[in-house]
Amino acid sequence: MVVLLEEVRRIKEETLKRFEDLESLDELQALKVKVLGKKGELTALLRQMGSLSAEERPKFGQVVNEVRDYLESAWEDQLKRLEDLALQSRLKAEKLDISLPAAWLARGYQHPLTRVMEEVEDIFLGMGFQISEGPEIETDYYNFEALNLPKEHPAREMQDSFYITEDILLRTQTSPVQIRTMEKLYPQLPVKIIAPGKVYRKDDDATHSPMFHQVEGLVVDVGIRMSDLKGILLNFCQEMFGPEREIRLRPSFFPFTEPSAEVDVSCMLCAGSGCRICKHTGWLEILGSGMVHPQVLRAGGYDPEKVRGFAFGMGVERIAMLKYGIEDMRLLFDNDIRFLQQF
Ligand code: DAH
Repeated sequence: MVVLLEEVRRIKEETLKRFEDLESLDELQALKVKVLGKKGELTALLRQMGSLSAEERPKFGQVVNEVRDYLESAWEDQLKRLEDLALQSRLKAEKLDISLPAAWLARGYQHPLTRVMEEVEDIFLGMGFQISEGPEIETDYYNFEALNLPKEHPAREMQDSFYITEDILLRTQTSPVQIRTMEKLYPQLPVKIIAPGKVYRKDDDATHSPMFHQVEGLVVDVGIRMSDLKGILLNFCQEMFGPEREIRLRPSFFPFTEPSAEVDVSCMLCAGSGCRICKHTGWLEILGSGMVHPQVLRAGGYDPEKVRGFAFGMGVERIAMLKYGIEDMRLLFDNDIRFLQQF
């Protein structure tokens, strides 16, 4: 017993002394394993307990445990000491020079499309419209069928579509939100909403992108007339492009409106006298519109004998390009910060 106790004492003293000389956390960890680890010196001593008498064993065990606790708490102290040491030496090595220029942080800019969308929304909110949304993955029923475009209708060809299945596609227009909103609001009157969002078509060139944005408009109420449509759109164009703007309506065709009209705004670049952008006509086409077709009102749950409506749909990219004089639509999607910085 005496020999073993002597051995424990030796290990304790030696370890404490070696602790003091340590210079790194790695060394500390290695020493801990060597003494206190599963195959460490103290553990090995415990294994020799078999040579002791029954009375000596618990006493010896107690001594070893005390020494272990003692060394463990000493180990914690050393750990703190070495961590401090490491921090101090790092602080000494890293010199802080506050006279150096600050690191350059890239600043983001609002995308011109987001800006135009928000501006369009603000103008219509100001006229008492609400904002409505619908899914970008749409059914054939909402995207075409309910909008008076039955299967095989030749006008479907105007919108080359991305089909997912025969009945599900990426919406080619925001017009399906007309139906979804009427279904939701019926029998409420008036319905007075705009529906901004992304739409998808199989087009890709300087003036067409496979993904682009539209803002749809729909008003349904008793006694709605085409002059209401014209008044709302004139006000919109003047707020968007300047108070001197005028609009004109040209007869057109959309399956979901009857009659239908293409709306032009007087050219904001030449004030109507004719330039390259308006192709010397003085007018720029900016949206499609018309009086909601009775079939469409019916699909939305409303009775075309009792209420009428008007609708319109505009391309946001086109408005942004006109407003900011952007000549190639692809610039809007290149994500080049030098382009975005200009707005
Ligand atoms: N959905 C049409 C398109 O994408 C645009 C449009 C035209 C919407 C006339 C309308 C409308 O609501 O009345 O080409």
